[in-house]
Amino acid sequence: MDKIIIIDYGSQYNMLISRRIREMKVYSLVVPYHSDIQITDDVKGIILSGGPASVYDLLSPELNQKILTYGLPVLGICYGMQLLVQAFKGKVSKGVIREYGKNKIENLIYGQLNQGMSKTSTVWMSHSDQTEIMPEGFHTLATSNNSIAMIENTEKNIYGVQFHPEVTHTDEGRLLLENFVFNICKTTPNWNVEDFISTKIQKIKEEVKDESVILGLSGGVDSTVSAALLSLAIKDKLTAIFVDTGQLRKHEALEVLKGYGIFKDMNIIKVDAKDQFYDALKGITDPEEKRKIIGRVFFEVFENEKSKHQDATFLAQGTIYPDVIESISVSGPSHTIKSHHNVGGLPKQSTFKILEPLRELFKDEVREVGISLGLDRQMVYRHPFPGPGLGIRIIGEVTKQQVAILQEADHIFIDELRKHDLYDQVSQAFVVLLPVKTVGVMGDQRTYEQVACIRSVNSTDFMTADVSRLPYDFLDIVSTRIVNEVKGINRVTYDITSKPPGTIEWE
Ligand code: XMP
Repeated sequence: MDKIIIIDYGSQYNMLISRRIREMKVYSLVVPYHSDIQITDDVKGIILSGGPASVYDLLSPELNQKILTYGLPVLGICYGMQLLVQAFKGKVSKGVIREYGKNKIENLIYGQLNQGMSKTSTVWMSHSDQTEIMPEGFHTLATSNNSIAMIENTEKNIYGVQFHPEVTHTDEGRLLLENFVFNICKTTPNWNVEDFISTKIQKIKEEVKDESVILGLSGGVDSTVSAALLSLAIKDKLTAIFVDTGQLRKHEALEVLKGYGIFKDMNIIKVDAKDQFYDALKGITDPEEKRKIIGRVFFEVFENEKSKHQDATFLAQGTIYPDVIESISVSGPSHTIKSHHNVGGLPKQSTFKILEPLRELFKDEVREVGISLGLDRQMVYRHPFPGPGLGIRIIGEVTKQQVAILQEADHIFIDELRKHDLYDQVSQAFVVLLPVKTVGVMGDQRTYEQVACIRSVNSTDFMTADVSRLPYDFLDIVSTRIVNEVKGINRVTYDITSKPPGTIEWE
């Protein structure tokens, strides 16, 4: 399988670069700039990502000079281009004008990289540093009003762009990346889910051998698809454990277990750990502390179950590629926005070996694998539900009562979305319960109850998201039902924040 390697210098867009290339059916992976890069025959090209640093700063991430010795095509994006400029004796300096957001570039001459692009093209910029002196052996393909926007050295097969072709705001970004991936790197688009499935099943067999695996099922698409793959690979050496954390959605435990009915040969067990979770969360209000506690209790439950199931040595998790990229990001742990317990690693004392069959895939690829394995469409296209469950949708302390209130409100919202054929038109919808009480009036009586906020977003990869434009009349129906039917809520609001700057979950 042909591969493009993306070297991560800390850009917020590096995951998008990888996605864009996978969309072209070419496999791509992101590696931190300081890691030892393994160049095998299947690697056809290298992309240097953008990043927040300045190449002339003493402590900025450096270009691993080995990259230039492989004879592979290299494309530098933003900071990546500036590294190339510096490496080939050009000069990067602080520009007088910062270019941020939409800009126009003019293609002065046509080379390999900008083949087929329009004379002037809209691009997305995000830089203040720029090329002051051109690197040796390169020529300029395009400029913006204020900077050199695209350079190439066809002899060395090295290219640079000051803008971000991976962002959809760059109108011809896809064309430019296709020029690089297909014409310059000469890749064959041979990344597909069928090959992924057969290779993965083989790999799981080789890794697990005669040992046993337990897997945490949440009912979400990631753990379900992981279970299906593992079950095909290792049959009865897999035990799937569905943990009732007490923070599931209404009827979830029942529905999930019913959904798994299609796995005729799989050992599935349910563990009731509600009290364990409630006890551990007593009095806790800090979002990160809640996430960490929930993660810890999950592992305690699995450790406890281990001996009961053929002394399982492996714990399988539904970790997917965005979680992996986030956890290896060169921006480092100080940039952790939320602790996802399925990538934070195991507690030190854990004896499990970890198995993550989907760690190379994006969400939509996971869904494709699910469909290809014959899973039920409704299950595969269920909205994502976070591992920590309703606990991170109850702002403030998590108690049984708060969960019960939220479950009812959430159930009404989802029920109405389905009734109005809107469920499949939005990517993720849910209700958040706020620790705020407001005054209302119901049947001439004063009420003083909590506020619920409904949230619905549209997104393909959940890294960025737009607010769903739900009809006002629909929102009215949902709000009326929640206030009338859920004791404890007397006011409903709608969250109109996109991601960024907001995140999808509130905690
Ligand atoms: P945020 O809130 O970071 O969420 O914008 C992005 C997507 O990830 C889901 N999410 C999680 N999924 N474990 C998970 O398995 C977690 O800890 C977790 N936190 C957030 C969230 O629901 C959204 O789909």
